[in-house]
Amino acid sequence: MAQDIHFTLNGDPTTVRTDPGRPLLDVLREDLGLTGTKYGCGEGQCGACSVLIGSERAFSCRTPVSAIAGKPVRTIEGLAAKGELHPVQQAFLEEQAFQCGYCTAGMIMTSVGLLERDSSPDEAGITAAMNGNLCRCCGYSEIRDAVKRAAALNSEEARR
Ligand code: FES
Ligand code: FES
Repeated sequence: MAQDIHFTLNGDPTTVRTDPGRPLLDVLREDLGLTGTKYGCGEGQCGACSVLIGSERAFSCRTPVSAIAGKPVRTIEGLAAKGELHPVQQAFLEEQAFQCGYCTAGMIMTSVGLLERDSSPDEAGITAAMNGNLCRCCGYSEIRDAVKRAAALNSEEARR
């Protein structure tokens, strides 16, 4: 039976009326028109559907929408502000950390969560955090460089 689910989406109070068991990914894409979050495997194996709940990555294909009630959810659409890319988006651009781009939104959301929890992760920390996000184009070294560049941009910001 449909229920009202209240949560915060990219900073805005949001309510959807739906079956509470539906995947968050379907609600984002089909009900809310946020198609930046991608459907890859639908089984929690690829990370294309990654969003943030707080600063933690969640695979939205495996997250029932009921699980986000009362929580802050962020998607790729919520990152750029005032016409400026988020530092992680900028870093992905500068490192050319994408080819087809299908994995990119999920990669960026996972990176943003990582850098919020740890502003200067070491190589092992980056690898561990990004584990679970797959790139079929095998752009892993550029993606890792982009996360490092974003961390460096963070430190520059902090020094200003
Ligand atoms: S689509 Fe969600 S993990 Fe692959
Ligand atoms: S850039 Fe194509 S899947 Fe990663």
